[in-house]
Amino acid sequence: MLRSRYCLCLLCATLAVALAALMWTGSASIARAQAPAAAPVSFINDIAPLFKESCFGCHGAKNPKGKLDMTRYASLRKGGTKDDPIVEGKPEDSYLIDVLIATDKRRMPPLESGDPLPKEKIALIERWIKEGAKLDAGIKGDADLLKELRQRWKPPQLLAAYPFPVTITALAFTPDSKKLVVGGHHELMVWDPTEGKLEKRIRTRSRRAMAMAFLPDGKLAVAGGRPGEEGDVRVYNLQGPAPEQDGVNSSDVLVKHLHDADDEILCLAISDDGKKLATGGCDRLVHVWDLSEGIDKAKLEASIENHADWVFGVAFSPDGKKLFTASRDKTAKIWDLVGGESLFTFPDHQNTVYGVAVKPDGKAGYSIGEDNQLRMWGTEGDKGGKQIRNVGAHGRVSLKVVRVPGKPLLVSCGADGVVKVWDADKLANVRTLGGFTDQVFAVAVSPDANLVAAGAFNGEVRVWKLADGTLVKSFIASPRLSK
Ligand code: HEC
Repeated sequence: MLRSRYCLCLLCATLAVALAALMWTGSASIARAQAPAAAPVSFINDIAPLFKESCFGCHGAKNPKGKLDMTRYASLRKGGTKDDPIVEGKPEDSYLIDVLIATDKRRMPPLESGDPLPKEKIALIERWIKEGAKLDAGIKGDADLLKELRQRWKPPQLLAAYPFPVTITALAFTPDSKKLVVGGHHELMVWDPTEGKLEKRIRTRSRRAMAMAFLPDGKLAVAGGRPGEEGDVRVYNLQGPAPEQDGVNSSDVLVKHLHDADDEILCLAISDDGKKLATGGCDRLVHVWDLSEGIDKAKLEASIENHADWVFGVAFSPDGKKLFTASRDKTAKIWDLVGGESLFTFPDHQNTVYGVAVKPDGKAGYSIGEDNQLRMWGTEGDKGGKQIRNVGAHGRVSLKVVRVPGKPLLVSCGADGVVKVWDADKLANVRTLGGFTDQVFAVAVSPDANLVAAGAFNGEVRVWKLADGTLVKSFIASPRLSK
């Protein structure tokens, strides 16, 4: 019950972004649907997207219903508990069409799970079967259709002007503390945080950045994707002089494509020595790469399945040997990267845990979540996974907690629209930075510990001096907003 509150908010965010995407890309798909009927139906362009939308949820690769895995052409044709559901050239004899037009309990999608497919869509599948139920040339029968669809999807160009503000889900200061990188709609934006001036735009495949962190060599690792569509970890070089850069095709800008997933990657962390990078996402997995030979030679070191639900937060211990994680499964955990095992589980939030951080000496973990508590807990021996102290954080859902470089301070943000600075030992509130009129989704501290920046659902970015809480600048981080 309780946990649905922020989930809903996240959903709002997802919806808003999805709506935005619709507004910006919808015209193309409408044109496609109305294309003349002459061309043969393409499985990958016309049928697979339809199956993905209405069928893959139950007929996926893992434990498919009726043992029918529809995510590969070959496994679809193999059939499940029954034979091949398709008779080439004969939709009227194909079981696949039977289940789509059935009005009894045989119907797919099942009666209780929603409406039948619209007539036009069923007609399109019938036509495809009538034309021989062919797989497009160049695609292997056992190819993962999700991957094939991802490869065919093309990100939009940079928007000349934003029709409405984009929700800020991630931001990061550059290593020299002078610029602020803010995630936009299919782009990264470099802002001057004290002037509120947009200096550079880098087009990205990812619809939105969910987390970002700089590598020791000044390149930026970004996690994100498209909700429910794909997950993405890519590394960008932001140094180029051009005000608009292509982080989709240019290898000078997009320097490394580290990881692909079937759903969004939500969090990312780099170890203090810069030699490891970890991510977590909607697939419940945590991945760790070894970067000791540079980002070009990044090696996937571990794929960790230690959580039962989305992973919202990752943080390395100071020695880079342990990984702290936060999840919608209501726990925070510590994973031993050397031994490859789960060390401790911290269950006290009893609700979604959104953020996690580690004390500089590694002797405590901090986590924050749906229960609106900032909690500090032990990391070793008898104290491992046991709470040391807690404090009410944001009056509402509490979303992120980060460490202040070189100072015994933490910074957090939440749905109450404020950013709070905490004494990391006593968990005492040192300062409250407010002024937002919306939920604050992202927070970052400059490497020189002078500035704090945060970004909200309504697109506003606010920047303060950490030392005394003076507001330095507030701006809407959306290029040439038309309204
Ligand atoms: C909410 C879950 C769900 C969705 C969504 C769903 N199915 Fe199913 N499907 C099932 C279940 C459960 C069975 C097994 C029914 C049985 O064995 O009686 C099944 C069985 C089937 C079978 C028979 C497989 C076999 O060999 O036994 C076909 C064909 C099928 N589904 C097609 C589809 C298509 C096409 C879609 C999308 C339009 C779809 N399903 C969407 C749950 C689902």
